[in-house]
Amino acid sequence: MIQMMTSTEQAEQQELLPEHIPTHVAIIMDGNGRWAKQRGLPRLAGHRAGTENLRRILRACVELGIKILTIYAFSTENWGRPEAEVRGLMRILEDVIDRELPELHEEGVQLRHLGDLSRINKKLQKKVLHAIELTRGNNKLILNVAFSYGGRAEIVHAIREIVSHGHKPEEIDEALVSRYLYTGDLPDPDLIVRTSGELRISNFLLWQAAYAEYYVAPVFWPDFDKEELCKALHLFGQRDRRYGLVK
Ligand code: FPP
Repeated sequence: MIQMMTSTEQAEQQELLPEHIPTHVAIIMDGNGRWAKQRGLPRLAGHRAGTENLRRILRACVELGIKILTIYAFSTENWGRPEAEVRGLMRILEDVIDRELPELHEEGVQLRHLGDLSRINKKLQKKVLHAIELTRGNNKLILNVAFSYGGRAEIVHAIREIVSHGHKPEEIDEALVSRYLYTGDLPDPDLIVRTSGELRISNFLLWQAAYAEYYVAPVFWPDFDKEELCKALHLFGQRDRRYGLVK
């Protein structure tokens, strides 16, 4: 019997070589609002669908052997959205921690937070800190959640920390600045994916993205499935990364 491969299987099979698997993937999960609007649903329904998708993509990353996943969940600019949407996104973060933390912990996911926690309510701050503490020793995959995060704010924060630790001007180099960013000890992202076709950085990992490869997916975040991820990885594997050098 002739067995036809589905396009999902084809895409998945194409990416099985080690050079297609970046260590660190970062994702701008864009398009939840438009996904919802297309269906006549409120924007928050899009964010809920996006959260469901995050679970699927997280699982796919573990299966594929990606070691670090950074997701852009809430930007410093998002604080300016309508109050109900901001409240809804806070609620989603709280629900994710309440419902998913035991399973994430069991699966060996180490949770980290990038951004300014002081702007979120105390109860949620505690939950975030608890999740970080609980999963600190896990090493299957590091999940960085950028929440109340902005790339410029991160650099300002790092500069303040450098000054307050009394570093002298001659001690300041790129490695030191990197250490004071929220990503601290982690390697820079190899691949940054943005969904929904938009060609913007939107204040995401400005410093860390210096030599990242970019991939823009034509689908909204809730529709960005494992097949789409594999397409991104396949193209990543074909990129010639020269880091400004000549090969
Ligand atoms: C961008 O879509 C998406 C966001 C601002 C929120 C992303 C959040 C999630 C996917 C939920 C997961 C969250 C946590 C805390 C783990 P948009 O609203 O800008 O979409 P639009 O451009 O179509 O309006």
